[in-house]
Formats: sequence, C-alpha cells, structure tokens
Amino acid sequence: MSARLDGKVAYITGVARGQGRAHAVRLASEGADIVGIDLAGPLPGVPYDSPTPEDLAETQRLIEAEGRRAILVQGDVRDLAALKELSARATAELGGLDIVVANAGICIPTAWDAATPEIFGDHLDINVTGVWNTVMATAPALIERGGGSIVLVSSYAGKKVQPFMVHYTTSKHALVGMTRGFAAELGRHHVRVNSIHPGGVNTPMGSGNMQGALAAAAETNPSLMGMGTPFVPKWAAEPEELAGLVAYLVSDEASYITSEHISLDGGMQYF
Ligand SMILES: NC(=O)c1ccc[n+]([C@@H]2O[C@H](COP(=O)([O-])OP(=O)(O)OC[C@H]3O[C@@H](n4cnc5c(N)ncnc54)[C@H](O)[C@@H]3O)[C@@H](O)[C@H]2O)c1
Repeated sequence: MSARLDGKVAYITGVARGQGRAHAVRLASEGADIVGIDLAGPLPGVPYDSPTPEDLAETQRLIEAEGRRAILVQGDVRDLAALKELSARATAELGGLDIVVANAGICIPTAWDAATPEIFGDHLDINVTGVWNTVMATAPALIERGGGSIVLVSSYAGKKVQPFMVHYTTSKHALVGMTRGFAAELGRHHVRVNSIHPGGVNTPMGSGNMQGALAAAAETNPSLMGMGTPFVPKWAAEPEELAGLVAYLVSDEASYITSEHISLDGGMQYF
C-alpha cells in the first residue's frame, strides 16, 4: 500500500526541534521528502533554551531514518531571500513543493508594561512577517505543481487572549487573517491554506526559565492566571499530536478544508 504523502515534498520552518521536528518526522514517515530551515542559534530575548546546529542535524538524521531525503539549512525566516533560495533548491533537487508548514516562532512572557519595543518588534518580525515570507517564498512552487497545502502555526493565543503576552497574542491573531487572505487568493490554484492552534505543547519552548517568566508575569495580575485551563485533565499536548493533525490537513483526505482554524488545545480556548 502506498503511503499517504508518497512523492510529496514538504517545506517546514523551525524544523530543528519541537513541533517543527515532529512535523518533519511524521510527514517523512508518510512518504514526503523534507526541506527545512531553522535559526539553530540564539533566539532574541527568550527565557527558554535556544536550539543548536546539533538539533538541526538530529532532525536530518531522523528524517533520513524514515528513508526520505532532507535538505535542512541554518537560516532566518526574517530573510526572504534565504527562504526563496531554499524553495528554489527544493524544486531543483527534489522536483518541486507540495506542502508548507510555517511553524517557526518565538514567545516571551511579560506583563504589558514590561514589554519593550524590541520584544513587540521581534514577535511581529518572526511570528508574522516570517510566516508571510514563508508563504511568499513557496506559494509559486505549489502553484507550479498544480496545487498544494499550507499550514500556518498559530496558537490558542490566536483565538483567545494569552495573558501577559500582548505581543504574542497580536502576532498569533494576525495569522488568522493571513490564513483567510492567502486561502481566498490561492484557492483558484488548488492551494489550501489553514491555521492550527495548539494550546500548551511539550517542547523546548517550555525549557530554561520559561515557567519562571510565566509565573513572574502572572503575579502582576493573578486573576488572569486561569485563562489557559484545558477541559481535559492534561495540561499540554505532545508535538506528535500536532504532527498528526498537520499530516491529515496536508493530505488528500482534507482536500475540501481551507481557510479553517483548527485547535488542538484540550478546549482551553473556550474556558
Ligand atoms: N510550545 C507551545 O506551548 C506552543 C503553543 C502554541 C503555539 N506554539 C507555536 O508553535 C510553533 C513551534 O513552537 P515549539 O513549541 O516547537 O517551540 P521551539 O522553540 O521548540 O521551536 C521553534 C523553532 O523555531 C525556530 N525559530 C525561531 N525563530 C526563528 C527564525 N527567526 N528563523 C528560523 N527559525 C526560527 C527556533 O530556532 C526553534 O527551533 C511556534 O510558532 C510557537 O509559537 C507553541
């Protein structure tokens, strides 16, 4: 039996670790070759550990262990030229592009009056412009192929306020509008565009002093602390659960789903 994504090529940002790595391994296990990019170095201002080139190399190893090809590069989603160059490599070396997962992002918890222009700007530059860059660099290749599927990684903070993160919430809400805008114009080319909205996820984004930074911000207004409560008694998903959702969304089984915003958050958006 052929695999669901046999012959497909997927382009994934933020691929060095966490959800991006899980998407790469899952899509490869279903038959896709992978191109990916990650800063794989110091992230601006975050309280959690930054990824390394070794993390990126480990993702490469895991994709190849699935028997698929991988072109992974160190680079920045703020650099449109680098994203275009990788897209061109996908076409030249792997024959084209069918799937895009715009996953790279940062998250810095701070109370509203402790946020700096740098924090706000970095969130817009990476979480919004970086995602726009990703689609702009890849959509022509999907159109050239006769269609494809794009997934923008937002957050429950893209549907509901995540307290102590005005900048992050702003950036993730922007992706809802971006999903709809691209879906409207790319639909005639058989390109589908959807966003996904994870609640908590067990990734290195929660490492280092992330919990301390969240707790310190929460102390400024404890009445908001319960806003991220899930209905099911589990506080975070595993990255592989998000990867299962993405694998479905980019497959032909979801061929009539576009411009949709799908949560995987234990219900916390409605708490
Ligand atoms: N972990 C969570 O609880 C959670 C919840 C909801 C949404 N998200 C979102 O999911 C996505 C993946 O996050 P994760 O949990 O895997 O975190 P992570 O920090 O483990 O992984 C994010 C990856 O993106 C990369 N990245 C960051 N800025 C980049 C840039 N400018 N250029 C290239 N690569 C860059 C990082 O190097 C890192 O490898 C992010 O968009 C995040 O906002 C995470």
